[in-house]
Amino acid sequence: MPGKNKTTRDKERRDTAMLSKAMQDAINQQINAELSSAYLYLSMSAYCAATNRVGSAHWMRVQFQEEQSHAMKLFDYLNDRGGRAVLKAIAQPPAEFKSLLDVFRQVLEHEQEVTAKIHRLYALAVKENDYATQVMLQWFITEQIEEEKTTSEVIAQLKMIGDQGAAVLMLDRHLGMRGAEK
Ligand code: FEO
Repeated sequence: MPGKNKTTRDKERRDTAMLSKAMQDAINQQINAELSSAYLYLSMSAYCAATNRVGSAHWMRVQFQEEQSHAMKLFDYLNDRGGRAVLKAIAQPPAEFKSLLDVFRQVLEHEQEVTAKIHRLYALAVKENDYATQVMLQWFITEQIEEEKTTSEVIAQLKMIGDQGAAVLMLDRHLGMRGAEK
């Protein structure tokens, strides 16, 4: 680059490698959303355990761990791109639910909101021609499809069998077999 000294060239290189302020802020918001999700699912796990849905309590605990790993993916990405993770307050999640069906309905509702947030983040990355962030977010877009699908299946099964009786115990046992995925 003729006409530019080394300091200017180094600064330009850093600037192109770094995320925009708007992108950083949006990713920080998403870290908060993922950690808030984790907190919500841990609260649901506590409710399930307290109401003798041991398998569902385990399912929610795995979900809690997954949400933390989602937050950490974003946290690491910010660091890798020369950004800065800034942690925000997490709101108190609900502690009481009407039934197991109510729990899973709230999971689906919550995941649909998360999907919308991820899509808004992606739209910002497109607007900013931030290709690296677009690639990183593609994993989250695929993950959201899976999360909504899995939760919808549990809701459909709970609607079929009702919230009480032997069938729900079988479903609860099945949910308890969920392994840690990522
Ligand atoms: Fe990380 Fe369930 O969205």
